[in-house]
Amino acid sequence: MTSASWPEATPATAPDGAYGVPGSPDALRHVMGHFVSGVTIATALHHGIKHAMTATAVCSVSLEPPLVLLCVSKSSRFHGAIMTAKCWCLSLLTVDQEGLARHFSNRGRDLLSQFDHVQHTPSPNSGTPLIDGALAWLECTTYGRHDGGDHTIVVGQVARASGLPSDDDPNARPPLTYYRGAYS
Ligand SMILES: Cc1cc2nc3c(=O)[nH]c(=O)nc-3n(C[C@H](O)[C@H](O)[C@H](O)COP(=O)(O)O)c2cc1C
Repeated sequence: MTSASWPEATPATAPDGAYGVPGSPDALRHVMGHFVSGVTIATALHHGIKHAMTATAVCSVSLEPPLVLLCVSKSSRFHGAIMTAKCWCLSLLTVDQEGLARHFSNRGRDLLSQFDHVQHTPSPNSGTPLIDGALAWLECTTYGRHDGGDHTIVVGQVARASGLPSDDDPNARPPLTYYRGAYS
């Protein structure tokens, strides 16, 4: 590894070949970029408008009760939606859905038409959009909200979870992942 993209890189007590740097937003982004994430589309309804956002800061939290968390940037439009919506959903994308991940992470997109060419189905409990063709879906009610710096950590209780039947399904598709700033 080179230190070219690292601020003030200095050899430290890291494993061989690695460099330690003081904590900073760039260092965190760089290091966490090495953590492979699945890619989801988070959705919520707000005043009848379908909000959505590409999200990788998603994690399973608890089995009893069944909880997941989603970290939402306070500067996103989705933040306003999820702070008021009682229900929200996550669609776990397949490798074929990179275009959707790019679409729903494009900050300039128009809110009112963003679903015009995206096939989706209303969730059973709240009518929140679920992305068709995804690997799996979660419908959540908000269990708690916690301050997370420039993000809010939203914990959701899973009201409904569904997914493709089994790994040996001939139609099963691999998940879309995000690693070091690239989809794969
Ligand atoms: C791969 C990827 C993952 C992302 N994950 C998150 C995330 O977990 N939380 C978040 O707040 N923003 C995340 N973003 C940024 C949002 O998708 C982006 O800011 C989006 O435009 C927000 O939409 P909005 O302003 O309409 O709410 C991610 C972007 C990309 C490309």
